[in-house]
Amino acid sequence: MAEATPGEVTMEKIVSLCQRRGFIFPSSEIYGGLSSLWDYGPLGVELKQNVKQAWWRTTVQERDDMVGLDTSILMHPKVWEASGHLKQFTDPLVECKQCHLRWRPDELKDNNCPSCGGELTDPHLFNLMFKTSMGPVEEEASVAYLRPETAQGIFVNFQNVLNTTRKRLPFGIAQMGKAFRNEITTGNFIFRCREFEQMEIEYFVKPETADEWFNYWLEERRNWYVKLGIKAENLRLRPHTEEELAHYARQCSDIDYQFPMGWAELEGIANRGDYDLTQHAKHSGKSLNYHDEETNEHFVPYIIEPSAGVDRSVLALLCDAYTEEMAEGELRTLLHLHPTLAPIKVALLPLSKKGNLMEFASQIYTDLRQCWMVQFDTTQSIGRRYRRQDEIGTPFCVTIDFQSLEDNQVTIRERDSMNQIRIPIAVLKETLTAKLAGEELFVLPPGGQIWKEEKKE
Ligand code: GAP
Repeated sequence: MAEATPGEVTMEKIVSLCQRRGFIFPSSEIYGGLSSLWDYGPLGVELKQNVKQAWWRTTVQERDDMVGLDTSILMHPKVWEASGHLKQFTDPLVECKQCHLRWRPDELKDNNCPSCGGELTDPHLFNLMFKTSMGPVEEEASVAYLRPETAQGIFVNFQNVLNTTRKRLPFGIAQMGKAFRNEITTGNFIFRCREFEQMEIEYFVKPETADEWFNYWLEERRNWYVKLGIKAENLRLRPHTEEELAHYARQCSDIDYQFPMGWAELEGIANRGDYDLTQHAKHSGKSLNYHDEETNEHFVPYIIEPSAGVDRSVLALLCDAYTEEMAEGELRTLLHLHPTLAPIKVALLPLSKKGNLMEFASQIYTDLRQCWMVQFDTTQSIGRRYRRQDEIGTPFCVTIDFQSLEDNQVTIRERDSMNQIRIPIAVLKETLTAKLAGEELFVLPPGGQIWKEEKKE
């Protein structure tokens, strides 16, 4: 059998790790799965939650010029008329006259069906919104749509927020939530799904300052990914050409990530001008003007929109963190996840199940889990347990041995360097707090020492 050696990151490896370790499963898997729908498993839900929390913290909680919102997924049907989605949120499609499969013309090599070789129809427009009905009797029920973006919930609440928060320009409204698109081209794992989550900011500005804020948000959002550990060289800004601009956008730039399948959009930053507020004012008959008390002017603000995908962020973070290396003659797979994002922050590993070591360790476990997601792992050799934690991105393992019962000390092992320190249990919580916040491992607390006993691995 060929020996395992470190290799490059591929989507197959990411999908395999996600399924093996419980990050992400195909939706309705026991029925064979459902195309482009995914379920987040026990570790995936923690990772996704941490990504959203990190976004909410930087976007809303740490800023004076931003407030949050959580609006409904189903909205008044007129919203989609006003927003232009009913008419313009479409993709051209051709259909095979034989097997009736549908294809995007730009994906075809020739004019035949890629599946059965049959003849194709002329292209016709296909709306990407999911339609449903609202009301108890289907025939009388009104048509409703599952929102294809969270943004519209923000625009229609613009006056509510202005009236209740007394925010002045420039200010933003942020929202995270599910969006639905009946995508024609799917695939690449969670990159393009039919049900996904967005994290959107609608930032309202004076029209003459729109360019300045557009550039500000490009920089701000790019830096957010870098601060969460994504390598700067794996990110690029890509301005949209005139032809590819969405119907509402005056200007747009994507933040692309270098995924295993190539460069692709992670987030879009658009200057939506006054399009949305003007359209909703027209269709609802309600004024959505802003009154500038200093100049006594009434005008429609411009909107700068940084719109990110939660699932694409999760995928980019996993791809960027995935590493294979040789450690002590064995292939080690690890996720270099930023501690803020790691699903499990600390693993507690008693070296033996014998004596009263388990009871001693479980007391520490009870104490630590008040602060973080902690995993208590007692199965298999310590080396296997370290590898398991490396593979799910746990930044620190705390090992408890028989010596701990006597000297009240434990060892902390760092995921990335595999280095260890031994410290008194009395300072364990504060030491882990400092290390999770980025302090070097070898900055020792009182009574701590560098631990050389690496043979245990
Ligand atoms: N409100 C603007 C808007 O929705 P978009 O470029 O269509 O703009 C924004 O979507 C972000 O939402 C994308 O950059 C991507 O991260 C995410 N996204 C869009 N469609 C997606 C899909 N089918 N699956 C997963 N994420 C998607």
